[in-house]
Amino acid sequence: MRTENAVAPKTIYLKDYTPAPYLAKQVNLSFNLLPGKTIVTSEVKYVKNSAGASHDLVLDGEDQTILSVAKNGQPLSDYTVADGQMTIANPGDEFTLTIISEIDPAANTALEGLYQSQGTYCTQCEAEGFRRITYYQDRPDVLSVFTVRIEADAKAYPVLLSNGNLQDSGKLADGRHYTVWHDPFPKPCYLFALVAGDLERVADTFTTMTGRKVDLHIYVRSGDESQCSHAMESLKKSMKWDEEVYGREYQLELFNIVAVSDFNMGAMENTSLNIFNTALVLAHQETATDSDFMSVEGVIGHEYFHNWTGNRVTCRDWFQLSLKEGFTVFRDQEFSADLNSRAVLRIDDVNSLRRLQFPEDGSPLAHSVQPDQFIEISNFYTKTIYDKGAELIRMQHTLLGAETFRKATDLYFDRYDGHAVTCDDFVQCMADASGRDLSQFFRWYKQAGTPTLQVSSQYDAAQQSYTLTFRQSQPDTPGQTDKQSLHIPVALGLLDANGKEILPTHVLEVTAREQTFTFIDLPGKPVPSILRGFSAPVKLETDLSDDDLRLLQVHDTDGFNKWEAGQTLALRTIQRVMADSQADISQFIADVGILIEQGLAGRGDKALLARALSLPMIGVIGQYLPVIDPAAIDAARTSVLKQIKSAHKEALAALYDANRNTGSFSITPEAMGRRALQHAVLEILTTTNGTGCASRSKAHYDAADNMTDRVTALACLSDSGQPQRAEVFADFYARFKNYPLVVDKWFSLQAIANREQIFNDLAMLRSHPDFNIKNPNRVRSLYTAFAINNPVKFHDPSGKGYAFLRDAIIELNAINPQIAARMVMPLREWKRYTPALQAHMKAALQAVLDTPDLSSDVFEVVSKSLN
Ligand code: ARG
Ligand code: ZN
Repeated sequence: MRTENAVAPKTIYLKDYTPAPYLAKQVNLSFNLLPGKTIVTSEVKYVKNSAGASHDLVLDGEDQTILSVAKNGQPLSDYTVADGQMTIANPGDEFTLTIISEIDPAANTALEGLYQSQGTYCTQCEAEGFRRITYYQDRPDVLSVFTVRIEADAKAYPVLLSNGNLQDSGKLADGRHYTVWHDPFPKPCYLFALVAGDLERVADTFTTMTGRKVDLHIYVRSGDESQCSHAMESLKKSMKWDEEVYGREYQLELFNIVAVSDFNMGAMENTSLNIFNTALVLAHQETATDSDFMSVEGVIGHEYFHNWTGNRVTCRDWFQLSLKEGFTVFRDQEFSADLNSRAVLRIDDVNSLRRLQFPEDGSPLAHSVQPDQFIEISNFYTKTIYDKGAELIRMQHTLLGAETFRKATDLYFDRYDGHAVTCDDFVQCMADASGRDLSQFFRWYKQAGTPTLQVSSQYDAAQQSYTLTFRQSQPDTPGQTDKQSLHIPVALGLLDANGKEILPTHVLEVTAREQTFTFIDLPGKPVPSILRGFSAPVKLETDLSDDDLRLLQVHDTDGFNKWEAGQTLALRTIQRVMADSQADISQFIADVGILIEQGLAGRGDKALLARALSLPMIGVIGQYLPVIDPAAIDAARTSVLKQIKSAHKEALAALYDANRNTGSFSITPEAMGRRALQHAVLEILTTTNGTGCASRSKAHYDAADNMTDRVTALACLSDSGQPQRAEVFADFYARFKNYPLVVDKWFSLQAIANREQIFNDLAMLRSHPDFNIKNPNRVRSLYTAFAINNPVKFHDPSGKGYAFLRDAIIELNAINPQIAARMVMPLREWKRYTPALQAHMKAALQAVLDTPDLSSDVFEVVSKSLN
């Protein structure tokens, strides 16, 4: 139910796109930051856009009081304001409009526009936050040169930052001061940023490929300076990598990063003034895990890479979001792969795609990478736009090859620097540079849903020929049926019966619904390694036997497919146990023994072995089942783990000991690999949650000199009923209670516990003095951790898990609609679950929909989920 005074949610369609009626030639903004209010003066020089159809200037604006409007210096009263828009009919071909308005950043809990985080003023304008700062054409295809003046109390806010270069600064009367910033590169308003606060600066420099010196500054709260070196190193590596791999140089004299505690997402690429969630800047061995270190490197890279893919070349409209996000995720994935172990990174990225994007693509909220419609664009910062979007870029890279792909990106930057463009424009550059027709490929951008690729094989001994038949199918998704076939790159290798590679990786292009490839002169039946490196985001179904998979698991030359073969065997094993709890899985258990022996012999990469020894997660297993019953999956998965433990206890203990922490801490791939392996082993060894498990985990905790080891120990104790659990959790809290990002971990590690008293624990955590519903990191540390990473208890048959989430969504709807809408995600796949769970999930969604004053953000995801 929506009350009458709420603005009716309006659907926006891609097909309705028209160019902006007016161009903004120059934007002068002036901010006067005062106690209790901020006065914003915006002076914009507008020129009629000859491509624009309308003669009315329509400006977006929300949550502000207009103090005055003037045209060419003369007061203007001839305008209307309704439904979040100011309309000035026929203002003329060229004029300057000055609007003075008042906003209240301290009262802004939505964390969009200008707000305060622990006293620091900061902004988040993407996608449509700028309209909460001043009235403007808040759309990415209006590019302008910005000059920004900031005035504030000098003592409380010594640091005053905006985009571009510092042009002027000085002292004023009454202890106030100001700065003036100028960004010479025209940009859309979503890239505008402002920061004012009492922050410490960590400084370094980078010399670009043409020898220009760039100042690099990271701003953090006092006390956090010692946790910035990893971010700074990552920034310098990113700048170098973009020069080497894409030939892209940074253009300004200064690059700033500011870390704030209250942030809806990970980080934001505002031109030369990136604003980050502290979780993606601060990293120290005592407080950050290996995976945190990796995330910091990846996201620092991601935001830096946006400088070219997003800022210099931007999006025409928000339907093109994946133009910048898909490409930039691909770039950050490749950056991390070049700096670390490529196969390990690919495994982790694909695991996350399967666990989080595949379910989205199979849900009522499935949407294409270039969507056709939305109500609230914030709801489209999804795994599909980001991660499936990155897979689409990766496939184009695979089809063109690295060299031609680079030619195509050079063409893209040449052609579109300073422009706002579409995904179509990007793919056209790929086509033009390669001379290939990519029109069929473009269907990947328009058709939602994860395709299935079935492969069957036939060996003809008389002809010595081997035939692979591919069949592709596309599932129906909301509003889309009868889909067309896709252009799918399938990286393939062939091994002989001894595991020797007889055909190195070769890319087959599957374009028809059914297509056959024949290989000749093969004296024996080969074993195919299909979809190497996960060359396309599909669900692969093959007719490979367990023996074929075992051969690939040992001999494949492709690190990803080696791991994949083991995971497929594990999946088959878990499904056998789900069908029959007494099923004989001794072959699989023996295979795991071979992996452990390899580890003991010191053979192979430890990070890869760690992943090979980890069973697929419940969320991934569910993707392969027609009806999801998390408790049943967990029971089978745990039974397999217990059988592994009981069969290989001594060998596992020896492998654990052989991978103990020696020497000083480092985050080299080798050191992280050793820890990952030791942790995978500890997880198996503690799977029975008995007294021995608890003391082993506690010993691990006591020996820890870093956060990765501590978190592992806590994770292994989290389900336990032994006294060590409380001891270790209490010690952890006492040690780190002054580090909010570590307290987040303390919340999460309890929220993921699969144990009886979980609902009491959750209530206790919810009312803990450190819980703060206004801080998105803390909300995620409790609710998202529970809903995503505790599938068994979230899907408790009582429905209590859903009710816990439901209440938080309703509470947050009034505080922070973006975060509230994101929290609906775990409920949207309700139709995939057992009938009993479905009923509870649907009731929770309905209760949210029945809430008065529902934000358009929450309304969109809940109403579409129920469809
Ligand atoms: N463009 C940012 C990124 O690097 C995401 C920011 C979106 N923020 C938001 N509130 N919707 O991915
Ligand atoms: Zn991004």
